[in-house]
Amino acid sequence: MTARQWSRPSAVLCGLGTYLPPRIVTNDELSLELDTTDEWIRNRTGIRRRHVIEPGSATSTLAIEAGRRALKSSRHDRADAVVVATTTPDRPCPATAPEVAAQLGLPGVPAFDIGAVCAGFVYALAIGAGLISSGIAERVLVIGADTFSTILNPKDRTTRAIFGDGAGAVVLRPGEAGEPGALGPFDLGTDGDLADLITVPAGGSRQRAEGTTAPPADHYFTMQGKSVFQQAVLRMTESVQRVLAQTGWSVDDIDRFVGHQANARILTALAERLELPRERIVSNIDRVGNTAAASIPLALADGGLRPGHRVLLTSFGGGLAWGSTVLRWPEVTPA
Ligand code: COA
Repeated sequence: MTARQWSRPSAVLCGLGTYLPPRIVTNDELSLELDTTDEWIRNRTGIRRRHVIEPGSATSTLAIEAGRRALKSSRHDRADAVVVATTTPDRPCPATAPEVAAQLGLPGVPAFDIGAVCAGFVYALAIGAGLISSGIAERVLVIGADTFSTILNPKDRTTRAIFGDGAGAVVLRPGEAGEPGALGPFDLGTDGDLADLITVPAGGSRQRAEGTTAPPADHYFTMQGKSVFQQAVLRMTESVQRVLAQTGWSVDDIDRFVGHQANARILTALAERLELPRERIVSNIDRVGNTAAASIPLALADGGLRPGHRVLLTSFGGGLAWGSTVLRWPEVTPA
């Protein structure tokens, strides 16, 4: 066997698709229900509006459409594995991915969900890359889809101001490490000691095993905003530095910085810490808010990326979990 036959293929991004539910909720609309204002939300988060699903839709509705568009963008209607990153599956059991695969006309393929909250998409990319380099799959559809509107406390002005619903997907194929679209290296990490900073306290095995009836508020998403803000800046800065060290790029080599869209002020703080010019930071948070696992692919589609751009992805979320990777942007038209 030759060295060529032994070498592991790299995963190459070859398709990108996104989908946002049609209903738009503006800050002014939120201020009709909650003690908030358009001015507060814009100044403190950079968000002007977000999309939310309506009754009859679910996370799979968004995931299927984003997946369909990503396959179209890849000019190949097949994938032989589907990975869905989500914190808001259609149901606690089973996973959402098998239904998504079936609806996309991909019966029989391995399909599973992964949970790393807002870092989920980068984790799912790493898993997709692993499936390809191990030879388990040839083409992998990686989807980030979330409908946080379904788990937010209707009375919580802080979380309702931030989160929106959406989905984004990419297709990965095998290729060479140096070619445009090739992913990696990756930096992934977690800190479970800080799990309580971002949590839905009830509804899991801990609460059920204790036999207690959780108060209704415990079924909603909660977050300690200030600490999360500080951790987001710290962990993404460190993760970016680690992935740059592995890649051999300097900060100056980054043409487009695609960070998790959690708060425009977090992106500004990252730019300052990394000494990255503001114009290289991709931001679509004003239009979509924080879409959790969908955030990175939605920003990729909105980022004005051109073939050859050196792109750095970094994400952060509950867990705590974080992840970063790099690629040179390929000839891909988002669908
Ligand atoms: N409208 C008006 N006032 C609001 C508000 C809203 N939507 N949300 C919070 N406030 C209030 C608070 O209640 C607080 O009032 P108080 O001083 O009377 O107690 C005040 O604004 C300041 O709150 P604070 O938490 O200090 O504000 P902040 O500047 O840190 O902004 C967040 C709050 C949530 C926007 C910010 O902390 C943040 O973005 N955190 C990170 C969130 C994140 O990234 N989450 C996802 C991780 S994946």
